[in-house]
Amino acid sequence: MVDGMWMTRLDGKRFGPWAVVTGASSGIGQEFARQIAASGINLVLVSRRAEALEETGQALQVQYDIAYRVIAVDLSEPGADEAVAAGTADLDVGLLISAAGTGQPGAFLAFEAEQLLAQTQLMGVSHMLLTHHFSRRFAAQKRGATLLVSALGADSGIPYHANPAAAKGLVNALGRSLHAELKELGVGITTLIVTPTETPLIKKMGLDASPMPIKPMPVAQCVAEALDGVKRGKMIVVPGRLYRIMNALMPHSLVRAMTANMMRQSTTFVG
Ligand SMILES: NC(=O)c1ccc[n+]([C@@H]2O[C@H](COP(=O)([O-])OP(=O)(O)OC[C@H]3O[C@@H](n4cnc5c(N)ncnc54)[C@H](OP(=O)(O)O)[C@@H]3O)[C@@H](O)[C@H]2O)c1
Repeated sequence: MVDGMWMTRLDGKRFGPWAVVTGASSGIGQEFARQIAASGINLVLVSRRAEALEETGQALQVQYDIAYRVIAVDLSEPGADEAVAAGTADLDVGLLISAAGTGQPGAFLAFEAEQLLAQTQLMGVSHMLLTHHFSRRFAAQKRGATLLVSALGADSGIPYHANPAAAKGLVNALGRSLHAELKELGVGITTLIVTPTETPLIKKMGLDASPMPIKPMPVAQCVAEALDGVKRGKMIVVPGRLYRIMNALMPHSLVRAMTANMMRQSTTFVG
């Protein structure tokens, strides 16, 4: 913590001079961009909305005197990872934060096949392909790390959020599997198991935080704990002490029952 605020600073020699952050226009990805910029590391900001990314980049440039580049792509579309690879080919990248994603509660049978494929591409496949591309670059330079964003419940299964949970499950298993494999090449990978966090997503999903037994945490805390895990080369980060205890002790059947109730009430998804 710095000045009572959640903030983790990174060593620019190890994780810079450039970092790529997906999902940088809002919420968790935007906060990653802020804390990384505070370490003096330049940013490649990736998501669909170019204007929101420009605003984020300009504000961070003014505040922290960093350089930034915007890549506006839809990561639910096949080939978007190639645009990110091409748009960063000339930069010395030492860190990938793969945070883009969303939530789409609903009955599995109500989705069309194309919607399910787009969810899997955005929340599973694009993370895998970006990890593959940047880890190759990191291995060649014997330096660099990836932070993958997964979600609490992905290992247990989430009724009424089945396919996004499956995609996040892919990310979770990928990160755990690669942790030892990439370590031998001098490359880091940490998986962030996001626990309920105050971002615009909670409202977008139509979730009501008031009956939650543990309230969503500040986004700065989630990100500061995640970056601390990256620094330490941790395999997994579960932010928040109470959530860590819950995650370790609660049986999968109870997690499924709780999340089923939350997702069933969420009928107003808009984005
Ligand atoms: N907040 C929570 O409690 C919570 C819990 C579990 C997991 N998570 C996960 O944490 C990650 C970040 O979520 P958040 O809470 O920060 O949500 P958020 O505030 O809605 O931010 C989501 C980010 O992802 C980007 N994004 C969404 N769809 C995209 C697409 N098709 N292509 C490219 N970028 C896209 C958005 O940018 P554009 O709109 O500009 O594309 C935005 O920058 C997600 O993967 C989410 O599933 C969050």
